[in-house]
This record gives sequence, C-alpha cells and structure tokens, in this order.
Amino acid sequence: MGVFCGSVPLNPSVFLAPIPIRALTNQPPLHKITLVIATGNPGKFNEMATLLTGVDALLVPLDRAGPIPPMPPEGGESFQENAFRKAEAVARASGHLALADDSGLEVDALGGQPGVLSARFGGPQATDAERNVRLLELLRGIPPDRRTARFRCVVAVADPRGAVQLAEGVCEGRIAFESRGLRGFGYDPVFEVPSLGKTFAELDPEVKNRLSHRAQAMAKARAILEGILVTRGHPDQQ
Ligand code: IMP
Repeated sequence: MGVFCGSVPLNPSVFLAPIPIRALTNQPPLHKITLVIATGNPGKFNEMATLLTGVDALLVPLDRAGPIPPMPPEGGESFQENAFRKAEAVARASGHLALADDSGLEVDALGGQPGVLSARFGGPQATDAERNVRLLELLRGIPPDRRTARFRCVVAVADPRGAVQLAEGVCEGRIAFESRGLRGFGYDPVFEVPSLGKTFAELDPEVKNRLSHRAQAMAKARAILEGILVTRGHPDQQ
C-alpha cells in the first residue's frame, strides 16, 4: 500500500530515513573540528591534549595527518615566527586546523639567550644536563637579583586558508645556582620559581602545568579554538 500525505503519494522510503549509526550505537557525536597538533614529540602531544581537554575537537598527531612535507626548520628570529610558520605549513598541507608551538628560555644576564636557540644551546648534540651545566657556568658569580629569566611559549592556530592566530604565555623566574630536582625536562632543574623557592624539576607536574608558559599559552589557544567552534556550523566543517 502506498503512503499518502494529503493528496501526494509518498515513497515509503522517506519514512525509513537512515538513522546515523552513531546514534544507534550510542557513540558520541562527531567532533566539530579536526585539529592537527604540529609536533613529532609524543610527550608534547599528550601534554597539549591534556591542556585541551573538553574542547570539541578531534586531535590528530602530525604523523597521522596524511602526507605533509617536511616541517620548516625552526630558523626564525622569534618564537612567534617559528610557531606561525609551522602551524601555517601544516594547516595548508593537511587541509585541517593546525596548532603549533615554540618555546624557550630567556636569561636577562645573557641578553635574552638562549631564546629561540634553547633547544640547540651548546650545540645540537648536547644533552639537557650539558646545556644546564653550560648555563650555570655562564652565570657563575652573577648574584640572585641579576639571575632573572623567563620561559616563553607562543602557540599558533592556523586554518587551511592561511589565517593564523597567536597566543603567548610567559613564566617569570630566575636561574638557580645549581641543578635541583629530577622531574620535567630541558632547563627545568635550573629554572627556579622565586615565590615557591623550587625549580620546575622539583615541582609536582600538576603544579608546573598550572604555572607554566605552555599552560598559559594553551589556555589562550583554547579560547581561540572555542571562538572558532562557535563560528563553525557543521560537524567537521573546516
Ligand atoms: P620547543 O618549543 O619544543 O622547540 O622547545 C625548545 C626548548 O626550550 C626545549 O628543547 C627546552 O630546552 C626548552 N624548554 C621549553 N619549554 C621548557 C620547559 O617547560 N621546561 C624546560 N625546558 C623547556
């Protein structure tokens, strides 16, 4: 028997409109956006994913984002430039939103060094421990009030059309007189938070993740992503 609506016969199949399989299986709805995290470092990916908990985005690590040409080397003159270039290149290549960061340590007594060269300070082969020894050597004899330093992090969020928004976080501190603490990485054992009298490497990771330059920049990046989510109408529309 045909189905009638008023005088118009309808194909019964219109009443059998497909129910999304996700609804039948109680799966959560699709994410509104896909966000490629432009890092090859799984530790950093996990840290960023934690800092973005609750954002309605499918987070994809760089190695799962499809064929992406090699990342531009971090040869820029500023954290902003490096983060911008990385995020823009990955967004254009992947066709998705991309998030990239650059960060490092600025020591006032060294005119802001190592800065953008933080990862290569003391030579590309140097270990974190060797970099810290070198830093302490360079600051030998410098009194506490002239050992001021800060970690800076810039996060860039880029869309595939090339629009890029930047977020920055800064954590002020000073360089200790010796390495202390076993946690963290990089310059954590020599970076002291004066109000706590502890280095980053002595702090509970949860405390560091509340104070850190990266946490602050990521809080602003989260606000940028939430703004983008508000303006996106359809699931996964980029
Ligand atoms: P990138 O942002 O991964 O390129 O990091 C640059 C370098 O800055 C790292 O290799 C570390 O030496 C240093 N760095 C950045 N953030 C931190 C931090 O939270 N603790 C210690 N060192 C850091």
